[in-house]
Amino acid sequence: MGNIRTNYEKWYESDDYYWGLEPAHFCDELIALCPPGAEIKVLDIGCGEGKDAVYMASKGYTVTAFDVTENGIRKTLRLAENRKVPIHAYVDDINTFKTDDQFDIIYSTGTIQYLFDENKKGFFEKIEKILRPHGFVFFNVFVEKPFLELPPDWDMEEKMWQSGELFSYFPNWKYHKIDEVIFEDHSGGIPHFHCMDTIICEKM
Ligand SMILES: C[S@@+](CC[C@H](N)C(=O)[O-])C[C@H]1O[C@@H](n2cnc3c(N)ncnc32)[C@H](O)[C@@H]1O
Repeated sequence: MGNIRTNYEKWYESDDYYWGLEPAHFCDELIALCPPGAEIKVLDIGCGEGKDAVYMASKGYTVTAFDVTENGIRKTLRLAENRKVPIHAYVDDINTFKTDDQFDIIYSTGTIQYLFDENKKGFFEKIEKILRPHGFVFFNVFVEKPFLELPPDWDMEEKMWQSGELFSYFPNWKYHKIDEVIFEDHSGGIPHFHCMDTIICEKM
């Protein structure tokens, strides 16, 4: 696909894992809600270098993952191979991706702020369509606060969301988790703060 729309292509060039290899604790929250099994299909949107996708595959889910970076997907596949777990990972764009598959869990951490405004509504309609009944979604997104500066490693096409905006796309779903937190982050080597909205909910 070859693109220069995200700095991550460069940040993922090195053999080291930019985000490390420790899976996000959100994965275990999903595992508790929806126990793994080969028949349970997970989609990881914006999988980066694959730490969460490969972890979920190692727990027994059937995992599909995509990211816009070729380096991220190369490292995702390498990690899966090293850990001897099957995974389907490929380069694609959150704004335009298409799939005929149906999933039980759709997971995306740190990525939906790359959706262009005009694609947000269509994206969440697509998510609802490709998720099986009683399937779960996990999303988080950086939200704007007037007292927080833009993070030093803020990317070219990222756009802050409004507080609560994410939750408004799931009015009739069963909420399992919904929160907004401010936390310190050292990514990019300079300490900074983020405000993040998170939702885990179930399609009824
Ligand atoms: C903050 S990182 C999170 C990566 C991964 N989810 C993790 O937690 O390790 C954001 C990811 O979004 C990806 N990304 C940026 N623009 C994208 C797009 N248009 N479509 C899909 N992924 C994109 C970046 O390449 C990067 O891997």
